[in-house]
Amino acid sequence: MEIWDKYYTWFYDTNVWKNMQYHGIRTLKLPSDMWNYQEIIFDRGITHVVETGTRHGGSALFFADTLAARTQGGFVITVDIDAASNMIRKHERIKFLIGDSSSPKTAAKIFSLLPEERGPVFLILDSDHARDHVLRELESLVPYLRSGDYLVVEDSSVNGHPVRHNFGPGPWEAIDEFTKRYPGTLRRDSGRERKFGATSCPNGYHEKI
Ligand SMILES: C[S@@+](CC[C@H](N)C(=O)[O-])C[C@H]1O[C@@H](n2cnc3c(N)ncnc32)[C@H](O)[C@@H]1O
Repeated sequence: MEIWDKYYTWFYDTNVWKNMQYHGIRTLKLPSDMWNYQEIIFDRGITHVVETGTRHGGSALFFADTLAARTQGGFVITVDIDAASNMIRKHERIKFLIGDSSSPKTAAKIFSLLPEERGPVFLILDSDHARDHVLRELESLVPYLRSGDYLVVEDSSVNGHPVRHNFGPGPWEAIDEFTKRYPGTLRRDSGRERKFGATSCPNGYHEKI
């Protein structure tokens, strides 16, 4: 096993990821992925973040703060099927939506909230991690992306990549199937993915072509 997979397996199996906060709000992320996300947002001039899976709201707050440091008008749209865990509820740079993130209706709603004159979007899929759900999200949301937008599929590490061997087909299998079905749509950003070695998102960093 590669050294970063050993580190990541320790991070995952000891549940460190279940005990993390961003500015006091829980978030379920690998810290080096978050560092990568804020670098991507600055490098690529991202103006808006679309997140599926809000949970406690810590990641949405992280993206809102990062956008606030970079751009005057940018904001985050985050969608969850269940708002019960959301610790934030109201924030001037976050639009909270309730709904199924894999539904075409939700996708249409999300992208109707973005200005036509927008800059690049950072789309991050972090809701239900079952393959079929993630594949439906990809099929309903990616068609709204423009060339130069950025996609991260979170938690593709499950189902043995390298953790949770018995999870069943998950995000890794969804992105694999999507790129086979729609060649020429996404370009894998392997350098970014492995910039800090460990990642929760193997085969999960992509640029929209
Ligand atoms: C992994 S958590 C999100 C973690 C959060 N992004 C963070 O980093 O702190 C997954 C969330 O997805 C939500 N979810 C599950 N199924 C969903 C669906 N079909 N549509 C939208 N959200 C869903 C759950 O309610 C849960 O809050």
